[in-house]
Amino acid sequence: MNLNVAVLANLKKNAPQIKGMPADAWDDLDSDVTINAIVAALESRGHRATFLEGNLTLVDALPKLKPDICFNICEGHWGDSRESHVPALLEMMRIPYTASGVMTLALTLDKPMTKRVLAFHGLPTPAFQVFERADEPIDADLAFPLFVKPSREGTGMGVSGDSIVHTEAQLRARLAEQIARYRQPILVERFIRGREVTVGVIGNLSRPVAWRVPEDEQAACVIEGLNFLPALEVDFAAYPESEAGVYTNRMKTEWAHSFHQFCPAPLDAALLERLQWLTAAVFRVTGCVDVARVDFRLDADDSYKPYVLEINPLPGLYPGLSDLVLEAGAMGMSYNDLINAILDAACIRHGLSDSYRHSLSAQTCAT
Ligand SMILES: Nc1ncnc2c1ncn2[C@@H]1O[C@H](COP(=O)(O)OP(=O)(O)OP(=O)(O)O)[C@@H](O)[C@H]1O
Ligand SMILES: [Mg+2]
Repeated sequence: MNLNVAVLANLKKNAPQIKGMPADAWDDLDSDVTINAIVAALESRGHRATFLEGNLTLVDALPKLKPDICFNICEGHWGDSRESHVPALLEMMRIPYTASGVMTLALTLDKPMTKRVLAFHGLPTPAFQVFERADEPIDADLAFPLFVKPSREGTGMGVSGDSIVHTEAQLRARLAEQIARYRQPILVERFIRGREVTVGVIGNLSRPVAWRVPEDEQAACVIEGLNFLPALEVDFAAYPESEAGVYTNRMKTEWAHSFHQFCPAPLDAALLERLQWLTAAVFRVTGCVDVARVDFRLDADDSYKPYVLEINPLPGLYPGLSDLVLEAGAMGMSYNDLINAILDAACIRHGLSDSYRHSLSAQTCAT
């Protein structure tokens, strides 16, 4: 079935410019290169694809276009829950869309809120504290070194080698700078020294229970319906010491065209299985659908125990460069296949076409 698909995104070139905004303010928005590639991928399967900027103009544009479904990658512009704005509009207009919904996008944009949900489910995430002022008392059980980052940003915004702080004076100075710059609560976590791995996933869980009770090691890990992409590891050895073994904003923007990574990551089978199960569990408890990417650090000080840093329900789709795209490539999945796999997962979920079941189930589930 050929569909009429609206590709919804926020382009960096269309973003509002306000005096005094940080230089990296729109680093998480998309480019023409990504939109053109998504449109071409959808058209390669016979769909009709039209790009629309994800703002209030959609209220007029969507009733005119009458899409069967929207391919949504909008990051939003304003507010504490900006990624959920366009999905909220689409739900009010009763138009189906790909990827996660309003609640999930609002939750996962907020890293501390997400960490509270993970902690409730016993999923490992670094110990943390949120600061609204630079002079708040520090929790006694938070030990240095610590890692300081904005609560609600992406693309490594606010993340550099200086995010690692070793003393209270450094912490207070970094907090003051980040609060002034990003005007939002700042997340301070235990610094996890070690390797960094990210795991992409496409599909939807076909059974209602995706997590086992963490203490019950005998219980089955329910992951059916999810297709894991090969894990990607950042090759920190290829970067200067200034980046301090951290996946920084500079690496994700200025240096993105020469990203150093291993994919598939060299992980032993048991650790990979653990990471995949954790990915499925985080996907489930945060209510993700269709696609996501979970970022981990492996704690070198504790037998490379995996810690969940965050889940990205709208992972970057820049052709040839974004983590998810590289992961797909490592299992022989082309860019066109990746985009259409996300669309297919959404179509099945929305009951748009039975024929999609065949194409999705034919895809390989590589590790
Ligand atoms: N607690 C931590 N310990 C060690 N490194 C960390 C920690 N938190 C974040 N980092 C480093 O900072 C990077 C960016 O952090 P995080 O993934 O939370 O931010 P992001 O900007 O949302 O990323 P993305 O580009 O994936 O959206 C991580 O990839 C990791 O290298
Ligand atoms: Mg990340």
